[in-house]
Amino acid sequence: MDPDTAARFGPPFAPAMGMVPAEGQVRLELKGRHSRINPLPRKPPHVIAIYPGSFDPITNGHLDLIQRGSRMFDKLIVSILRNDAKQPLFSVQERIEMLNEVLHVYPNVEVDSFDGLLVDHAAAHGATVLLRGIRAISDYEYELQMALMNRRLGPRIETVFMMAHEAYSFISSRLVKEVFGLGGNITGLVPPSVESRLKARLLNTRIKGA
Ligand SMILES: Nc1ncnc2c1ncn2[C@@H]1O[C@H](COP(=O)(O)OP(=O)(O)O)[C@@H](O)[C@H]1O
Ligand SMILES: [Mg+2]
Repeated sequence: MDPDTAARFGPPFAPAMGMVPAEGQVRLELKGRHSRINPLPRKPPHVIAIYPGSFDPITNGHLDLIQRGSRMFDKLIVSILRNDAKQPLFSVQERIEMLNEVLHVYPNVEVDSFDGLLVDHAAAHGATVLLRGIRAISDYEYELQMALMNRRLGPRIETVFMMAHEAYSFISSRLVKEVFGLGGNITGLVPPSVESRLKARLLNTRIKGA
């Protein structure tokens, strides 16, 4: 590839062509409309990713993504968005407990929660990656919008999408709650500890409502 083409395509071609200076930053000498591309820091030695979501409750779809993500990053922080507007079934504290019950077996996975801007939360943890899952085309539009907004707010933080596993791509927390509330079987859709908590919650609500 000639240097002009390499510069036009940017990383990884430009670095491969030896067009990148040493220390810290990837400086690209670009022409025309590409000249506005901002310099980006190099890959940190320790890549920290944040997997944000409601996790109300965590499903086997989330878990699959976490398991796969934990193999890609040095540290993966599963972080619950504190958003009361969503009227969650489980409180943030309960969701933290549920996540810990399921995730303590992964040594490089941590659990946290946040409010405010996700990019600020990521920066506070030194994270350079946001991990999100895509189940179907219907997820794409919203996820794209979020990813582009987050890039605008925090250009040094990259959103990485992973395709849901085909066995779990139909699972959502909302549907699990709906089916369970109607008496449907959700075994295999959520971790066993989550199923127990759902049962306890349903029993509790029935007793309260009785
Ligand atoms: N079954 C699944 N398989 C893979 N990814 C999923 C699954 N369910 C949800 N996700 C992804 O996990 C992330 C968090 O989802 P969710 O807990 O619903 O929070 P949010 O309120 O951000 O949608 C989202 O990127 C969502 O697309
Ligand atoms: Mg969702």
